[in-house]
Amino acid sequence: MYRLDVQAAEAGHSKERIAKPVKSNKRSGYTPANEYYTPDWIFEGMGLRFDLDVCSPKDHVTAVPADKFYTIDDDGLASDWAGRVWMNPPYSSPTDWIDKFIDHSNGIALVAMSRSKAFLRLWNAADGIVALTSNLTFITPEGKKKGIFMPCALAAIGADNVEALRRLDCGAVR
Ligand SMILES: C[S@@+](CC[C@H](N)C(=O)[O-])C[C@H]1O[C@@H](n2cnc3c(N)ncnc32)[C@H](O)[C@@H]1O
Repeated sequence: MYRLDVQAAEAGHSKERIAKPVKSNKRSGYTPANEYYTPDWIFEGMGLRFDLDVCSPKDHVTAVPADKFYTIDDDGLASDWAGRVWMNPPYSSPTDWIDKFIDHSNGIALVAMSRSKAFLRLWNAADGIVALTSNLTFITPEGKKKGIFMPCALAAIGADNVEALRRLDCGAVR
């Protein structure tokens, strides 16, 4: 049984963060559809530290093990990226994030799988990619587990990052 199936069978995650609820504010770019945080077991399984989380909530501590975090106030899409990046982009508008990730070429991205051209570009550019089963749950700002409609994948560019996907043991890394 792969790690994701084991995780799904368990009652809960040990270190979920509880956050203050944040009101929807279109002007700031905040929308609840973007606030789906990565569960900590993914980072524990990969055993990797990142130099930068390129898109991070501004009012919430996530499980992402990174040295630096860009929030919407910094605009991670417009800012320079350096080193190994973690990218779980806003689901409302992932295309430009995916293209910047491909250009940057060092990191791991957690994205929804789709028939979009951007996903196909990522599929072709990634050194390693693994499909996550549809029972993956994210963490909401209220600290609850929640799945999304689309299946997701982890895409790695860079040899060390591909190795981290293998360590995670979620399925075949192609
Ligand atoms: C899917 S969540 C991922 C959060 C975190 N990186 C993780 O993996 O748990 C995407 C985050 O990007 C933030 N965001 C939206 N637009 C952004 C921007 N232009 N620059 C940086 N962060 C942004 C959202 O507020 C949201 O918290």
